[in-house]
Amino acid sequence: MDTMPMARMGPRKKKPRQMGASMASPAHDIKFRDLVLYILERKMGTTRRAFLMELARRKGFRVENELSDSVTHIVAENNSGSDVLEWLQVQNIKASSQLELLDVSWLIECIGAGKPVEMTGKHQLVARRDFSASSNPEPQKIPPLAVQKISPYACQRRTTLNNCNHIFTDAFEVLAENYEFRENEGCCLAFMRAASVLKSLPFTIISMKDTEGIPCLGDKVKCIIEEIIEDGQSSEVKAVLNDERYQSFKLFTSVFGVGLKTSEKWFRMGFRNLSNIRSDKTLKFTRMQKAGFLYYEDLVSCVTRAEAEAVSVLVNEAVWAFLPDASVTMTGGFRRGKKIGHDVDFLITSPESTEEDEQQLLPKVINLWERKGLLLYYDLMESTFEKFKLPSRKVDALDHFQKCFLILKLHHQRVDSGKSGQQEGKTWKAIRVDLVMCPYECRAYALLGWTGSRFERDLRRYATHERKMILDNHALYDKTKRIFLKAESEEEIFAHLGLDYIDPWERNA
Ligand code: CTP
Ligand code: MN
Ligand code: MN
Repeated sequence: MDTMPMARMGPRKKKPRQMGASMASPAHDIKFRDLVLYILERKMGTTRRAFLMELARRKGFRVENELSDSVTHIVAENNSGSDVLEWLQVQNIKASSQLELLDVSWLIECIGAGKPVEMTGKHQLVARRDFSASSNPEPQKIPPLAVQKISPYACQRRTTLNNCNHIFTDAFEVLAENYEFRENEGCCLAFMRAASVLKSLPFTIISMKDTEGIPCLGDKVKCIIEEIIEDGQSSEVKAVLNDERYQSFKLFTSVFGVGLKTSEKWFRMGFRNLSNIRSDKTLKFTRMQKAGFLYYEDLVSCVTRAEAEAVSVLVNEAVWAFLPDASVTMTGGFRRGKKIGHDVDFLITSPESTEEDEQQLLPKVINLWERKGLLLYYDLMESTFEKFKLPSRKVDALDHFQKCFLILKLHHQRVDSGKSGQQEGKTWKAIRVDLVMCPYECRAYALLGWTGSRFERDLRRYATHERKMILDNHALYDKTKRIFLKAESEEEIFAHLGLDYIDPWERNA
């Protein structure tokens, strides 16, 4: 905690400012007495270590020159958890459960904040395995992982954004994406599932032994894990990242409206960058792709939560102007607690409105924004929804609701003059927005579906394979009883499926 001793709060004893390297390093006051840091020189080097020690001390941290029992936090750079543990063993120091092993990113954030920042999985080199709040009688003992059964279904795991295994999941996601670009669905799925399961782990994998009992990790996946544990990186991932086809597809698909087919075509035609495509006179672009190129810079820069909130205000205003009883819920990644997204998703439903009102809402909203000059692009898809139609068995079948994919012009709230890389004089940013209108009876299913992530595909797989039910964005059908199961809330859907409820922020699978 950032507690300042009373004696130092007054303006009385002003110390002369210590500046310049020529002066002797001043003895800095220690502000944060609960923390005793030690910075590991191994793989960091003497100079950088000395530099970081000085910075941290200036900010009021206690940083020891030597490793001793009083040290509470070890900070390392370019070391894995197992590297540090091994090093400690060589030093003959027992890593007590109290000792935090942290990546330098934590210290850098602390220095930036001028106080200790929260330690999360991305900082912790070895995550606390006794993380649960339950009173474990032997907190020192690490539970053998194989005993904590991990489900192969993401919908039976809690996956927050606190991913302790970024180093592995980032690698898997690159490989999965490459397989997707090469239309190898099986391998793509295998790496996606592996990434998904590792994201749910409350600890960092530091040795192959840790992978025992974890589902969805095939031989290929394990090979990559092993390589990363040993070398800190995977040669296969490195090769993919350097691959011309991968790089081109990644670039092409970053344009709104460009999918695999178009990317393939452009790649075969020999294109490797966007500017040549943009200026090519022989190519024909869809309306969506034209908008994609026109607002490219804005659309590739992610949507922040603040921007999502500002869009939410626009959506609420517009919707309530026509249907005052409508409920508007932000779904997608932002509902799962993400700080950034590629778009902002909203689900709209109204308890009282007629089918006609319902059908008219999105066109009216679009019309309003068009008149206000806020509409940069839209594609309205009419509803093909039919009551009592059996849910789709396909895990990634699209739903039948009326929806609109748009690009909105979001005016900046505050004009920070000269700040950030905004185009000179441009006072707005193009933002991708998805609006979905659903019948009131479907709202729980639609909300579950549009809150998304891979989690939701696994819910459908689970329903089919484990419950003889069919789930999609509209309904849940029990094949044994031959009935549709009604739900007023997401909780009720989980209950129908016999699953523990998982909150949206735990669905980041
Ligand atoms: N979705 C859908 N039908 C579509 C498009 C999307 O059901 N035609 C669902 C997807 O299942 C997804 C959710 O809506 O889970 C949100 O989709 P999307 O915006 O693409 O992803 P996010 O999870 O919101 O991630 P991002 O932050 O990148 O937007
Ligand atoms: Mn989204
Ligand atoms: Mn979306």
